[in-house]
Amino acid sequence: MLLHKLKITLSGGGVVPELAARKHLELIPFVLEQALEESKIRIEEIDVIASTVTPGLVGCLRVGSITARSLCTLYSKPFLGIHHLEGHLSSILFSKNYPKSPFLTLLVSGGHTELIKVSDRREMQRLGRSYDDAAGEAFDKVGRLLGLSYPGGPAIAKIAKKGNASKFNLPKCKISDKKGGFLKYDFSFSGLKTAVLRLVEKFNKNGDEIPIPDIAASFERVVAEVLVERTIKCAIDNSLDNIVVVGGVAANDTLRKMMIEEAWKKSIKVHLAPLNLCTDNAAMIGAAALFRLKFRQHESSLELGISGRLPIDQANSLYEKNPPF
Ligand code: KG4
Ligand code: ZN
Repeated sequence: MLLHKLKITLSGGGVVPELAARKHLELIPFVLEQALEESKIRIEEIDVIASTVTPGLVGCLRVGSITARSLCTLYSKPFLGIHHLEGHLSSILFSKNYPKSPFLTLLVSGGHTELIKVSDRREMQRLGRSYDDAAGEAFDKVGRLLGLSYPGGPAIAKIAKKGNASKFNLPKCKISDKKGGFLKYDFSFSGLKTAVLRLVEKFNKNGDEIPIPDIAASFERVVAEVLVERTIKCAIDNSLDNIVVVGGVAANDTLRKMMIEEAWKKSIKVHLAPLNLCTDNAAMIGAAALFRLKFRQHESSLELGISGRLPIDQANSLYEKNPPF
């Protein structure tokens, strides 16, 4: 059984936490009913009931987790609380060529941009992250700046097809290292968003028409270049010859093509999450649960709660007898 978050958006763009939690509560019985109906599986036949427990919007996580744990008690099923990022990582289990570990994962979503080394037995170590906006968040904010629909990622990708990606030179922001130089595997996207804002303001001030397709294409190219360059550098430095790309932004065609092309030049193989499983979905949470249960005999305590934050390196703590929250 797969219970996962549903998103609600407003015309202004973005997810309103309180409304999203309320919608979860309203819709969860119908989602459950529909999932059982469409899969033609009785609840008694299900192996494991899982829900995302961290990180995310606490109101939404609470609805899924309480429902899952109630069903586990009612039907005597094992419960697994899943780390949302491990869920994204598990979307690659649905691709035809799952890589052997160790490999490097680029996880790019609306809330996270992380480089994660996955070793044997699926031990996860974060090697890089964004210090401000996540890549998907940058797409959403820039989409809003350009007057496009929410979420910004697919809208920018669509209009960028009509634009010239070399038209504007936008910055590739870096994070300074206290010891000097820059952090090689970390990201910053808020400066890029501000650069787009300044560009739009300049056109507005001069009374000129905003070249939306060109700005969208230039922005999309820079984001893809930054992600590809730093991911490949991280893979080479850590002797990893397989790269996995998952998360909502992994649906981006420019990023997918650029990653394959550039990695190929360095003899690195790229494994992309299936297009329909890049953005949030319940199948990836179920896959993560089955993997934990089958290969690691993991189960969560029914006392496990929810948390808005937990680094991916600490995902194993979700299966301890004394849960972390
Ligand atoms: O993984 P996801 O569904 O939710 C989170 O866990 O955050 O990712 C959603 C993000 C949004 O920011 C959305 O704009 C972005 O993924 N996204 C894309 C594309 N499709 C979705 N970004 C760029 N290109 C796309 N085709
Ligand atoms: Zn997600």
